[in-house]
Amino acid sequence: MNAPVLSPGKPTASLDVERLRADFPILANVHPHGKPLAYLDNGASSQMPQRVIDRLVRYQTHEHANIHRGVHTLSERATAAYEEARHRVQGFLNALSDREIVFTSNVTDAINLVAHGFGRAFIGEGDEIIITHLEHHANIVPWQMLCEEKGAKLRVVPIDDTGTVLMDEYEKLFTPRTKFVSVTHVSNALGTVNPVDEMVRISHAHGVPIMIDGAQAVQHMPVDVQALDCDFYAFTGHKLYGPTGIGVLYGKAEWLERMKPFRGGGDMILSVTFEKTTYNVIPFKFEAGTPPIAQAIALGEAAEYVRGIGLEAIAAHEQALLAYATERVAALPGVRIYGTARHKAAVLSFYLGEVHPHDVGTLLNEDGVAVRTGHHCAQPVMQRFRIPGTVRASFAFYNTFEEADALVDSLRRIQKLFA
Ligand code: ALA
Repeated sequence: MNAPVLSPGKPTASLDVERLRADFPILANVHPHGKPLAYLDNGASSQMPQRVIDRLVRYQTHEHANIHRGVHTLSERATAAYEEARHRVQGFLNALSDREIVFTSNVTDAINLVAHGFGRAFIGEGDEIIITHLEHHANIVPWQMLCEEKGAKLRVVPIDDTGTVLMDEYEKLFTPRTKFVSVTHVSNALGTVNPVDEMVRISHAHGVPIMIDGAQAVQHMPVDVQALDCDFYAFTGHKLYGPTGIGVLYGKAEWLERMKPFRGGGDMILSVTFEKTTYNVIPFKFEAGTPPIAQAIALGEAAEYVRGIGLEAIAAHEQALLAYATERVAALPGVRIYGTARHKAAVLSFYLGEVHPHDVGTLLNEDGVAVRTGHHCAQPVMQRFRIPGTVRASFAFYNTFEEADALVDSLRRIQKLFA
């Protein structure tokens, strides 16, 4: 990390954090154990600003109906709002066309869609798929299931002790049998930011399409899928200040056109007879059944909200906060930080002496500090470092230096309890 270390409580010039915090009612409404809430579990789910909550209420009170199916006023309103959300997401990712934006339930669903839709069509016995050692289970298990079904092989790029992907090893893994690459943009467990531009370039140099899991990235840095030139990119609503139950798969139109549908049902068809079904055009071919309409509309609002703040400014604040928190936590006796890559997003994973992460998490909560503990759905990362799990503080733009101090003060108290 090259970000400057700031003194406690000093606001970052790039953002008016106190003003932005006022957008999030839950931050002021909840007092765990009577203490102010320091919500540092944004890697799991971030909070929703009032503007997004209001959008959900407006939809439910003025627009709710099923989409693409009715000629009545409410159905037309709901359809227009849903498609406007798709358009907003297109703008958020700078996709070429809103035909390239598929609404899914979450990133897991998006990866499964590609594993089935691409995998069934283009991967066969003896073919190889490359992932990295940093992946969340969501970017491991669907590929393992596909490999099992097809007799294909999973190849894993190793990481070093800082949690950095070994790029030489990545390039060496490509063979004439490599058919697909799927890598995370940011490690949820360690915070490592992968050099995805370079990973895309190498993958394409071998003629192999590549998917990026952006679950932990789009809320922390600007992402432009055209500049990145990836074939697929996925992210989720509930980590981008939106609701749960909604995710996004970006796919280049040329791939989405060629892929098989994932789920069959209503709305993904053009015509159905008992003899033959023809499929709808993209993206509808991949959206079978009634989708999460309210959630998609709220996600569109969240994406606009974040764009309005500016991802460059968000990144600057979070980097300063991460540097500050890392330095202060690392200074505690016996602490081991996991994830010390040069390029990191706002994730701080650590082990407090010999205290089990679950105990640390429970005791932090007594002081109002919310973190995630455990393996973070990334067991291979934990195996690499021979630990059962970590304590993970994951920051959002609304977090303050005082909250990082609250984390450190609480960790000091816990250390005294176990001394
Ligand atoms: N994938 C989420 C996390 O890292 C739930 O916590």
